Amino acid sequence: MEDQLWADVDGYVNTLLIREDETLLDAIRASAQAGLPPIHVSPAQGKFLHLIARLQGAREVLEIGTLGGYSTIWLARALPPGGRLVTLEADPRHAEVARKNLERAQVSSSVDLRVGLAEDLLRALAAERRPPFDLVFIDADKAGIPEYFTWSLRMSRRGAAIIVDNVVRKGSVLDAASTDPGVLGVRRFNELLATERRVSATTVQTVGAKGYDGFTLAVVVGE
Ligand SMILES: C[S@@+](CC[C@H](N)C(=O)[O-])C[C@H]1O[C@@H](n2cnc3c(N)ncnc32)[C@H](O)[C@@H]1O
Repeated sequence: MEDQLWADVDGYVNTLLIREDETLLDAIRASAQAGLPPIHVSPAQGKFLHLIARLQGAREVLEIGTLGGYSTIWLARALPPGGRLVTLEADPRHAEVARKNLERAQVSSSVDLRVGLAEDLLRALAAERRPPFDLVFIDADKAGIPEYFTWSLRMSRRGAAIIVDNVVRKGSVLDAASTDPGVLGVRRFNELLATERRVSATTVQTVGAKGYDGFTLAVVVGE
């Protein structure tokens, strides 16, 4: 009942404020047709990421967890000319769908889609001589969040924003006895954050078409 209400309010907001264009809708359709799980961000969340990227004036963006490229398109559309987005995806099938969606959205030239395990790709990325990131969106397996966050922090400039999705998990983040790898990953991440002096962070709970969850926003305040 509540879930339906949350979805209806999301629908209302989408109609008035988000108005996804055909390219974004095509990306969702093509992902569904290819059998990808419907675990992309909602339209309101996609637009939120887009607006944060614009607020940041982000030129260098890192995304961990591409799926079919839906959030990637929202983020890439916020880039200024010459801006770059690196997105990491473990599943070659997901990456193939994403590549086509990014081409259709005409953002391929600014997106560097890398296929492999994030833990390996992040190590390789850190060894490259490249500008630091202005914005990072972490949205892959939740067990890996602490490691992905540590690499992201290492590669981000002071003032950068790091957003981590799905950190409330219907409230199961409170369960200290949980054996769920996702919950364990989020709890380890929170413990890391609590003692990490280089960032200032908050977590916001969310409801909507995707149910009850939340995200963490961490801003790099020190080196
Ligand atoms: C929640 S989906 C990403 C959704 C996407 N950000 C969006 O909103 O459109 C998570 C993705 O992370 C990928 N993934 C899971 N574990 C990974 C890992 N260790 N390294 C890289 N990608 C991983 C999955 O294959 C899946 O495509």
